[in-house]
Amino acid sequence: MTKVIELYYDKLSGVYDKESVKGKWEPPKEINKTLLQYRLVKSKLAILDLGTGTGQSVKSFIGKDCEIYVVDISHKMLQIAKQKYPKVKTFKYDLSSGLEGLGFRRKSFDLIIASGTLEFVNHIKRFVDGASKLLRPEGYFIFTYEVLLRNHNLQKSKVQYNASGYIKNPPNNTRFKLYRIEKEVVTKTLNKAKFEIIRHYRFRAFLKGPEKFPVFYNLVLAKNK
Ligand SMILES: C[S@@+](CC[C@H](N)C(=O)[O-])C[C@H]1O[C@@H](n2cnc3c(N)ncnc32)[C@H](O)[C@@H]1O
Repeated sequence: MTKVIELYYDKLSGVYDKESVKGKWEPPKEINKTLLQYRLVKSKLAILDLGTGTGQSVKSFIGKDCEIYVVDISHKMLQIAKQKYPKVKTFKYDLSSGLEGLGFRRKSFDLIIASGTLEFVNHIKRFVDGASKLLRPEGYFIFTYEVLLRNHNLQKSKVQYNASGYIKNPPNNTRFKLYRIEKEVVTKTLNKAKFEIIRHYRFRAFLKGPEKFPVFYNLVLAKNK
């Protein structure tokens, strides 16, 4: 059965890049900034981008002779990513089934990216363990997640329907769940999987809804040991 989230992003795909500018969507820019800061934007890398959307977070690797594999549940988002960057290899896949089902060999990648994806996939441990297996030793995992903020009006519950709290009577095609995580949980999970955490910080990710509420994410850069 097709998931609501897939239909939602299929519908949004044509205007996604334009809406990202309007909503001040920062995660791909923040990821790029951090990768540049740590001199990780290099040529000839094998890169996996999970929940790629229109490919905003692989932009800085285009033309650098990298092998870029991009994954998304929405085939329309993937079509746009492919139109923008014809050399990327696209995979339509539901990440809530874990990363094993993608069929990549262990230790295949130098860099795994997940920008604005984890809030839709309720399995941080599975995600982190999967990334650890697919990364080469010394490979990097960079991702964002929506932070659970107990004192914040709109980010205080672990699970919430996407539009609730932001829009009155949200339409059914926006009824998919968002998952929030505490920083400590992410840190513990990464430590257990033997990642070395290089950066872990909060930033304003975008402005949500007609009222333009700021939404806060954390960004993690971690190295596989
Ligand atoms: C907020 S967008 C982020 C896109 C891109 N990474 C960026 O930063 O612009 C979330 C993306 O995750 C995809 N997505 C959501 N749930 C997914 C799932 N279960 N499996 C694969 N992709 C998923 C959506 O289709 C969408 O393209």
